[in-house]
Amino acid sequence: MYNKIMEEELLRIKNNAVSLILDATSPKELEEIRLQFLGKNGEVTQAMKELPKLTPEEKPEAGRLSNEVKTIIEDAIKQKALGLSHKKPSKRLDITEPGIKPHLGNLHLITQAIREITEIFKPLGFTKVRYPEIEWDWYAFESLNFPESHPARDDWETFFIKERPDPKMGPIILTPHTSSGQVRELQKGNMPVKMLNIAKCYRRQSDVSHTPMFHQFEGLVVGKNISVADLKGTLDYFVKSYFGEKRTSRIRPYHFQFTEPSFEVDVTCGVCLGKGCKLCKAGWLEMGGAGMVHPNVLKNGGVDPEKYTGFAFGWGVERVLMMKEGIEIDDLRLLYSNDLDFLKQF
Ligand code: PHE
Repeated sequence: MYNKIMEEELLRIKNNAVSLILDATSPKELEEIRLQFLGKNGEVTQAMKELPKLTPEEKPEAGRLSNEVKTIIEDAIKQKALGLSHKKPSKRLDITEPGIKPHLGNLHLITQAIREITEIFKPLGFTKVRYPEIEWDWYAFESLNFPESHPARDDWETFFIKERPDPKMGPIILTPHTSSGQVRELQKGNMPVKMLNIAKCYRRQSDVSHTPMFHQFEGLVVGKNISVADLKGTLDYFVKSYFGEKRTSRIRPYHFQFTEPSFEVDVTCGVCLGKGCKLCKAGWLEMGGAGMVHPNVLKNGGVDPEKYTGFAFGWGVERVLMMKEGIEIDDLRLLYSNDLDFLKQF
């Protein structure tokens, strides 16, 4: 019976002590609490003095409980003391004080360029898409009219994920160009097509002007009576919008497997504006490929080449960015080396 009263008393002491310890605001106050409970005349010490009065059966249990309460209070004081020593001197809350501005980072230079390019093509009605980076050889090469022996299909040019070919689709590769989206887009069966495919591409290359992973933006327009004039108009519109009114473009005959005729596209140099300087080849900088979609490609996409024609272009995001006036990157690899001092400049 007596034991029961002691147990209740010890629990009350413990609860009281712990709540006072939690509320303490200074080491001095904490010391006072310690004395109040564990000091010579403290509450726990007093309760323990009652132990001899208990029966031999009651003693062990009551002894264990009082020691437990003592340890709990000691530990709570230690913890609190630690917390108080870490606390900064208390300061009154001033709600008129300006807040702490969170640090805002900036988008990666390439993300910024991708967004700008997307916005430029939007008013012309281009829909932005992205197709798989891990791609069947069929979409990247075979359906685009590449013969099996074409050097681009060699493993010195292209990364192979799975060399053992699927009987219909061929091996699995990392797509080396955004043109792999052409047949995928045509297969959707929505006419006319105005696709803008901006995606990562992969090739086995690494030097100051090439990285194994890079980005391309690919335009594909297929419909009735689409001609080279539409391609040239789109190209000029892009060049003026992205590089500025003073820059112009030209197309030169070239060869691609999946376009006929094919062109290489040049833009006037931003420094000499076409006159010729140290930075460019006689006033022009090369931007990338373009051409009229090859009938075999249309067929592979389920489109009748007798009824429809189209044009396509594929240009490098990194490349157009470097060609833009004011941005000079000596080594393209810097873009992907996570050097914040470099990236924060833009
Ligand atoms: N895919 C070609 C390349 O990566 C570029 C291209 C795209 C050429 C579309 C013509 C038409 O070099």
